[in-house]
Amino acid sequence: MFYEPDKNDHGLPYNPVKACVVPRPIGWITTIDSEGRINAAPFSFFNAVSYNPPFVLFSSGGHPDDEEAKDTVVNIAETGEFVYNMATWDQREQMSHTALITDRNVDEMAESGLEAIASSLVAPPRIKGSPVHFECVHHQTVELPGHNKVSAHHVVFGRVVGVHIADEVIGDDGILDVARIRPIARLGYKDYAWVDSTNMFTMDKRTPEELIGPARQAAE
Ligand SMILES: Cc1cc2nc3c(=O)[nH]c(=O)nc-3n(C[C@H](O)[C@H](O)[C@H](O)COP(=O)(O)O)c2cc1C
Repeated sequence: MFYEPDKNDHGLPYNPVKACVVPRPIGWITTIDSEGRINAAPFSFFNAVSYNPPFVLFSSGGHPDDEEAKDTVVNIAETGEFVYNMATWDQREQMSHTALITDRNVDEMAESGLEAIASSLVAPPRIKGSPVHFECVHHQTVELPGHNKVSAHHVVFGRVVGVHIADEVIGDDGILDVARIRPIARLGYKDYAWVDSTNMFTMDKRTPEELIGPARQAAE
């Protein structure tokens, strides 16, 4: 099939775009507003986009109630800081719950039964139980046009100024044990994936001689 997103003429029951870029890591973002109220929300339009120095980005649609932007984006504009918390299998329910809360006056971490722990360099807290936290300083926000206010997106870039990694997920070899972390990722629709040792594989860069299977046959 082929369709033009500007015409939205895919003919399918649901827009397929999110299911075409999978799995997407989930940036579980904590912020505070100018009065110190805590906000937490998951964003699967999220990624690390450089690593030395590290920058991350996430992209937020408009607020469903037609306010200017979602609370996370407003808070970062007000305070200039946020924290990325890695979302894992163990905290999947709480992660999902923080996506529901839209009232600005609610402390979303407390409401979701999550414990806030202080960050080292920025004011927004970290989520206890998440094995990786990046403390971020706002770098830039890029506005993407939408068909309406809700479908317009704010792409928020942050410079990572502090990295916390739980000691127990660093193996004896000094390498992060992703299988132990069990990070979750977003697929299309309401689907998710998780990573554990049964669905990981390791591959060095291949020389033409080292190729196997169909890739080998194609190279010959
Ligand atoms: C797994 C998951 C991923 C999500 N990813 C995004 C996203 O990338 N962009 C977005 O605008 N909303 C996303 N949402 C919805 C937001 O989390 C939701 O609108 C949330 O209420 C925003 O919170 P805030 O208004 O406190 O910032 C996602 C929800 C879930 C459950």
